[in-house]
Amino acid sequence: MTRNETTRHLHSAKKAKNDEFYTQLSDIEKELKNYKRSFKGKVVLCNCDDPRVSNFFHYFSYNFEKLGLKKLISTCYKNQDRDLFSRNDSEQAIYLIYEGDKNNNNVPDPDEIGIQFFEGDGDFRSDEAIELLKQADIVVTNPPFSLFREYVTQLVDYKKQFLIIGNLNAMKYGEIYPYFQANKIWFGATMFNGGATYFMGSPDLYDPKKMSNPKNAYIKDNKLYWRVNGVRWFTNLDHNKRHEELVLYKTYSSNDYLNYDNYDAIEVSKVVEIPKDYKGVMGVPISFMDKYNPDQFDIVGLSMKAGFGLESNKFYDSYKEVKQDGTPTGSSGKKTNGNPMLVGKPKKGNYYLDEYGNAAYSLFDRLFVVNKMLQH
Ligand SMILES: C[S@@+](CC[C@H](N)C(=O)[O-])C[C@H]1O[C@@H](n2cnc3c(N)ncnc32)[C@H](O)[C@@H]1O
Repeated sequence: MTRNETTRHLHSAKKAKNDEFYTQLSDIEKELKNYKRSFKGKVVLCNCDDPRVSNFFHYFSYNFEKLGLKKLISTCYKNQDRDLFSRNDSEQAIYLIYEGDKNNNNVPDPDEIGIQFFEGDGDFRSDEAIELLKQADIVVTNPPFSLFREYVTQLVDYKKQFLIIGNLNAMKYGEIYPYFQANKIWFGATMFNGGATYFMGSPDLYDPKKMSNPKNAYIKDNKLYWRVNGVRWFTNLDHNKRHEELVLYKTYSSNDYLNYDNYDAIEVSKVVEIPKDYKGVMGVPISFMDKYNPDQFDIVGLSMKAGFGLESNKFYDSYKEVKQDGTPTGSSGKKTNGNPMLVGKPKKGNYYLDEYGNAAYSLFDRLFVVNKMLQH
């Protein structure tokens, strides 16, 4: 192996390990309660799911009759790394087909589950896996976070309904955000306890550097539980929660809501502070998506460097980044182009100054939204 190959190998092994965490049954049950009617007569595919460890397979096989499913398919990716939690001792990747309880004991017995072999490794992108995808109506799983862009793009290309777990920040990916703006993807009904959940993995994955905060990981019954923040369900299945109106109580005043220096919009730093009477564009934190009701608001853009929807109308190339005490950091203002900017000096953190002493500072990414109900 060349040095480059070794580095790539180590890198992909690390990525694979990060992907080897499993969803808890309680998180699945809580979310799935909101879609009971959507599954009737449907073929469900869990295509990143070793049935021996996947609670998605467990949930759908045990609730097969209750949900009125037609068929359940679960595919198991053959891992190259033998140490992983989903230790795959068979040489071939497999997939399982379950078509319901035959002996009326309400339990999916081994002889009711058909085991089939893949020729290849069961990668969700392989032709064989895509053949199964074509048969499916709804795909439900927690896919590898490292392949999330490709995973979502494939689901959309094959026009599938889906309910999958991902990181909140993945909604900002260039390949994914446009679907949010167009109301083709939204967040699920439940929030993983403030956005954080524990995924389960092998104790071998314990990495003290990542889990230095003792609250972020614990080992129980020989399983590592790892706390991950900012986790959401990504879906295109409708649910009642997204039709609940967000109650607005604040009134707009130009003293309370600042205009951005570079976007034609006002800054609203907390979703609860969205003014009830403002007709123009408002910049809100991306956690707005948790409260988003498409009958109440339109999403018109995202303040990314690439610029989605709304364009930044000012650039900071002639500015310099400085620390709170005014000493230059050595960076040009170019690096803040596209970020939502306010005029002035912030209470803490670095900011930007031009040669005339004009100051401006950047905020986190913002979604740009308008209140649809005020547009007539
Ligand atoms: C985050 S884990 C989640 C596992 C399971 N879906 C769950 O929620 O418990 C992602 C799974 O995807 C599998 N995987 C990784 N790359 C894959 C690929 N290219 N195709 C299919 N599965 C893959 C991993 O082996 C791992 O089991």
